[in-house]
Amino acid sequence: MKNQVLIAPSVLGADFLDLGNEIRAITDGGADYIHFDVMDGRFVPEISFGELLLRQMKQAAELPVDVHLMVEEPEKHIDSFIRAGADRITVHLESTDQVPEILERLKNAGTDPGISINPETPVEAVFPYLDRLGSVLIMTVHPGFGGQHFIEASLDRIRALRKEIGRRGLAVRIAVDGGINMDTAVSAKEAGADFFVCGTFVFRNDRAANIRALRAVL
Ligand code: DX5
Ligand code: ZN
Repeated sequence: MKNQVLIAPSVLGADFLDLGNEIRAITDGGADYIHFDVMDGRFVPEISFGELLLRQMKQAAELPVDVHLMVEEPEKHIDSFIRAGADRITVHLESTDQVPEILERLKNAGTDPGISINPETPVEAVFPYLDRLGSVLIMTVHPGFGGQHFIEASLDRIRALRKEIGRRGLAVRIAVDGGINMDTAVSAKEAGADFFVCGTFVFRNDRAANIRALRAVL
């Protein structure tokens, strides 16, 4: 049976002063995860939010939380995000030289492990880790900001990754993050993506209706 496509609205696109209602709206719309972008002002220019907000969110929200760590040396932070209740943690390949150790710690904690790669990083760089991953997150924009345009060259990267996952008979999801809307999501799905992170597209007007509309074309 074909994997169900997953949709993870990124709270970076939400109204922070109305976060409770934002989470209720995406829950009503049938989102699968809350995507939680952590930025440290070093790996990417801006600083977003961290463990304290995650902890509160986990107390209030029914949805599982997908933590995307855009931070240098994520090995220093993963334990506190695990303790705060992260259901899935994705670290950037470019941010650490301790990928095997991080994946081992996530596995032992029962947290779904992911690796993300920036647009410049060859997709083959994740191949050695595929058998230990729940997902690979392909950045389809340069990380650090919402509201950018989807990089079309990402589609070939998704295809190459899907081919390798298929060749090895693995069940790794391919997540895409950045510039996802109804059109780019369809192209990414055709290329082999099955996990869709989206900020700007979801968090405007009727959030629940936006998620349903996206689901209907995937
Ligand atoms: C960007 C973040 C994304 C961002 C996506 O670095 O990782 O999750 O919120 O936002 P949109 O969908 O607006 O590109
Ligand atoms: Zn993200």
